[in-house]
Amino acid sequence: MAQQEEVFKRLVSHCKEYGFVFPSSEIYDGLAAVYDYGQNGVELKNNIKKYWWESMTLMHENIVGIDSSIFMHPTIWKASGHVDAFNDPLIDNRDSKKRYRADVLIEEQLAKIEDKINKEVEKAAKRFGEAFDEAKFRETNPRVLEHQAKWNALHQRYSDAMNATNLDELKQIILDEGIVCPISGTHNWTDVRQFNLMFSTEMGSTADSNMKVYLRPETAQGIFVNYLNVQKTGRMKIPFGIAQIGKAFRNEIVARQFIFRMREFEQMEMQFFVKPGTELEWFDKWKQTRLKWHKALGLGDNKYRFHDHEKLAHYANAATDIEFEMPFGFKEVEGIHSRTNFDLSQHEKYCGKSIKYFDPETNESYTPYVIETSIGVDRTFLSILCGTFEEEQLENGESRVVLHLPATLAPVKLAIMPLVKKDGLPEKAREIMDDLKFSFKCQYDEKDSIGKRYRRQDAIGTPFCCTIDHDTLKDNCVTLRNRDTMQQERIPIEKLKEIVSKEVSFTELLRKQI
Ligand code: GAP
Repeated sequence: MAQQEEVFKRLVSHCKEYGFVFPSSEIYDGLAAVYDYGQNGVELKNNIKKYWWESMTLMHENIVGIDSSIFMHPTIWKASGHVDAFNDPLIDNRDSKKRYRADVLIEEQLAKIEDKINKEVEKAAKRFGEAFDEAKFRETNPRVLEHQAKWNALHQRYSDAMNATNLDELKQIILDEGIVCPISGTHNWTDVRQFNLMFSTEMGSTADSNMKVYLRPETAQGIFVNYLNVQKTGRMKIPFGIAQIGKAFRNEIVARQFIFRMREFEQMEMQFFVKPGTELEWFDKWKQTRLKWHKALGLGDNKYRFHDHEKLAHYANAATDIEFEMPFGFKEVEGIHSRTNFDLSQHEKYCGKSIKYFDPETNESYTPYVIETSIGVDRTFLSILCGTFEEEQLENGESRVVLHLPATLAPVKLAIMPLVKKDGLPEKAREIMDDLKFSFKCQYDEKDSIGKRYRRQDAIGTPFCCTIDHDTLKDNCVTLRNRDTMQQERIPIEKLKEIVSKEVSFTELLRKQI
């Protein structure tokens, strides 16, 4: 794990050095948990969004998109439950003056016990080799059983405290477990108290008429409050979905692991409206559909897993996360929730208007049930970088840092390089660029040796480089180099567009999900 953390640190530096992600407001020493995307980052991010958007709106004729505003009527957040219940339990250490999430401190304690169990298993696996029966070992080894019993007891106590929102008990668990502040090393803790994660501001021109409004903490509510508009104007028949991509804001207290947990981030959410009683069937379908979307990126099927929720929110009757194996463990990238008719019913109650669907086939009216798929753009971005970043030792003794990005998502698809800056080679390279720039993102590069130029392109994940040399002027052929294999082949210029287009095509990527 320590080695993985070192690699992760180098990945974060790489993101800055190569124009993917910068700390926000850096010249003013930054703003915690807020980041800016640079020239390459924005291209990758836009490509991720395009892949998601087209998967939803091109591949499903019953899914349409919207773009709702960030500011919404404040009653929406009362109806959705965010004003009263979108809280984190916080605790301060009086000595270090640092603030923590009480639930995270306890979860970290649980993870430490899990680590101990895993270490016992790893040691035994090494000792027994192929004859090792892991399941039996976990069931019978006294040390594992002791740790497991401790874990079960703590987990039960923690779940009970969270379910009952018992803040005193959360503090007592922290004290009983001897959890100390990592900075001061003391257990001089304050009481635990609830902290609402929504940012608010005021709207209006005079102090008297100002209205407190919130920066949306999820894009989903913009979809719910537009359900009727879209259903009626689009003449949508159930089942149908509404997709949206947009910014969301949360005043996260534990903001760590780079862009994994940010205060301003982007979500891609889709609410799928179904007939009551059919929701669990649709939930299973969407679980599989979304997993295929992730796997089509080619980062490795074993990098993903479902984490089904045991404890469900009061409005949900099924929920799962799609987790990706980051260098800091398997972490949630996407949530899939069967949210019943909770949100639409709440809005119906608070706005006093009917939000029902009239089914022309059965002549009945009902409030639709909803399956939600909700994925973070930034976490997807991070998972792709973590899954493709490689510090590679080459056979010739050299090394290179390469991003094996899915070609379709790469910021630059083709680098166009004249071997030297003279003899008509730059002019020929420009001619090729002027032709191809309408088809995909090209980058012209004539500075430094060809080797250095290859390394620069490897570092930003460019799948193809083409070199124009003196022979090109005679035979109209270029050398095309593949990022991953580093193989070079001589091909006619007129073939370039076809070869690269096929590899970087969104259509091909979309087809991989079927
Ligand atoms: N509408 C449901 C909803 O918002 P969520 O699990 O709170 O559910 C969905 O968020 C996704 O949004 C997460 O799986 C994650 O990818 C992303 N996300 C949530 N909070 C985030 C944060 N602070 N920073 C970055 N991404 C975040």
